[in-house]
Amino acid sequence: MRVLSGIQPSGRLHIGNYFGMMKSMIGWQEKADLFCFIVNLHALTTLTDGKTLAANTLEAAADFLALGLDPDKSHFWVQGDVPEHCELTWILHNHTGMGLLERSHSFKDKSARQETPHHGLFSYPVLMAADILLYQADLVPVGKDQKQHLEIARDIAGAFNFVYGPVFNLPEPAIDQDLATVPGIDGQKMSKSYNNAVEIFTGKEELRKKIMSIVTDARAVEDVKDPDSCNLFAIYRLFLDSEGEAELRGRYLRPGLKYGETKKALVERIWEYFAPFRDRREELLTRPDDLRDILAAGAAKAKAVASATMEIVREKTGLKY
Ligand code: ADP
Ligand code: TRP
Repeated sequence: MRVLSGIQPSGRLHIGNYFGMMKSMIGWQEKADLFCFIVNLHALTTLTDGKTLAANTLEAAADFLALGLDPDKSHFWVQGDVPEHCELTWILHNHTGMGLLERSHSFKDKSARQETPHHGLFSYPVLMAADILLYQADLVPVGKDQKQHLEIARDIAGAFNFVYGPVFNLPEPAIDQDLATVPGIDGQKMSKSYNNAVEIFTGKEELRKKIMSIVTDARAVEDVKDPDSCNLFAIYRLFLDSEGEAELRGRYLRPGLKYGETKKALVERIWEYFAPFRDRREELLTRPDDLRDILAAGAAKAKAVASATMEIVREKTGLKY
């Protein structure tokens, strides 16, 4: 089975990315044919500072490798290093209804945040469909926010197959139903682009500042509190097993819980949770050329699969003459 997913290097990776996607992706390398990539072309839709994009790309690679992704057990590469992603995107544009893209929640959301929304944002799901279909993926592990993008990819694959015959496999999303979207410190979805993210790898002081600024309600110490509407609880539970979560829930439901103390405990918890990976990441980042070599080898491996699909697509569409 082919399992595939990508992540944008539009900022430093955060705990929403980790629990929503990275953790399960790393687990898949033992059980499936894994395709994991850094989608720098997608990041161009929101990031126009070239130096930052280049640095974020290498950092995202170091994050994945430090957290346990093994390039020998997977395909691990940077999207922009395999030009077939763009080639297939153009072909798929011709099988993508305007209405399909106009209904995209993420387009509506992101275009409302951009003064003059550009075409890249509109076409974003088509590039994502190309990413998936190029590798004939079976399963795509993503967070809940990507569900509609997966439906769009399936629609586009169906429309293409209807015209040219069964070329593309229809991918299934793999969404962890227990995991609601991880909220940011302001209570909106945690995102690299909303300035509300708790990064996986950050200095302890920076982590402390972030956690201390999680927005909580104004209930007093002696009040009982509502874990289910609390951002702090939603973040804390990610770092607890079911027993620990039940215990914290119990403390919310009894008078006496102090948000400030709970936040301090969470800082320690997060710090310890990622401690085993921190040194390895630092070490990897001191060897950027080795990182580039790993990514180049990964791109060559991915390209072999992508060009086999493109061979069929070129033949079916008549681009091959
Ligand atoms: P961001 O919004 O931070 O730019 P991406 O769009 O690059 O994140 O998402 C990468 C992966 O992480 C996707 O599978 C996405 O569903 C998941 N993800 C992102 N933010 C969250 C979140 N807040 N909660 C759960 N999963 C998330
Ligand atoms: N749009 C995805 C996100 O923001 C990233 C992405 C790009 C992706 N191409 C993909 C995810 C292909 C899964 C499969 O999270």
